[in-house]
Amino acid sequence: MNTATYPTIEQTVGNTPLVRLQRIPGADSDARGNVILAKLEGNNPAGSVKDRPALSMIRHAEARGEIRPGDTLIEATSGNTGIALAMVAAMRGYRMILIMPDNLSLERRAAMTAYGAQLILTPASKGGMEYARDLALAMQSEGKGKVLDQFANPDNPRAHIEGTGPELWTQTGGRITHFVSAMGTTGTIMGVSTYLKSQNPAVQVIGAQPAEGSQIPGIRKWPEAYLPAIFDRSRIDGYESIEQTEAESMARRLAAEEGIFGGISSAGALVAALRVSARVENATIVFIVCDRGDRYLSTGVFNT
Ligand SMILES: Cc1ncc(COP(=O)(O)O)c(C=O)c1O
Repeated sequence: MNTATYPTIEQTVGNTPLVRLQRIPGADSDARGNVILAKLEGNNPAGSVKDRPALSMIRHAEARGEIRPGDTLIEATSGNTGIALAMVAAMRGYRMILIMPDNLSLERRAAMTAYGAQLILTPASKGGMEYARDLALAMQSEGKGKVLDQFANPDNPRAHIEGTGPELWTQTGGRITHFVSAMGTTGTIMGVSTYLKSQNPAVQVIGAQPAEGSQIPGIRKWPEAYLPAIFDRSRIDGYESIEQTEAESMARRLAAEEGIFGGISSAGALVAALRVSARVENATIVFIVCDRGDRYLSTGVFNT
């Protein structure tokens, strides 16, 4: 048998579909010559855009000789990164410890455990992700493993400079005019912006953030002191504030009207993309569908 002819699971990360929305944009958007395209990152093998940075952070650290199979890795994660890291750790032979606030959805925790990761749940009341990040660093300094630190690791945006950005450029034949993404670590928006602006500096990059008091899993409007180190303000042209309720109802519409079953932050990015579309003409607007709706079933958001 020639094993070289068959891909491993690792080689199925990336190269996700880009699809055109047919109904939600509406006649006004069509009449202005706009097209809205969804990049389906839920099609990655562990189910989210985070498969890309997880693979990138581990592969590049290995290539630099910083880690090797058998080592223990530690990460604070809001969920999707944990699932992706757990998959890559399983694929490449690492032990994985994941630290997450205890108010995140059950499906996420179960998926990490399925891939063999060890979970540490921190009380959300102690400060959510900020507390989890501090604990990860404390464990590293006690010699318990190596923190990859997706918030500061250049190999996170690099996954999108090398993968997502070039894919979008090719898939739109260089016609993309606007890129919209929800922001968590900001790795997606930083990396894609870097690549697209290197091809065409006129491409507009818009970040979707939860409005004051809104909770949208996976994304944050970071307090100044906790802004991710990989974040560079100059790569973003505008921001849209998204209410939790409008993101949730758009997630239901995206599934029911377009057949795209995405998560809440993905729908938030679509809300932002529609606002952009209302202001422009002859635009090719891409938004990221970060993950799949299945991951949110236990929250009840799709039951109404
Ligand atoms: C559901 C969800 N949406 C959006 C994002 C944002 O992606 P990024 O960290 O690249 O900004 C994340 C990140 O963890 C996420 O889990």
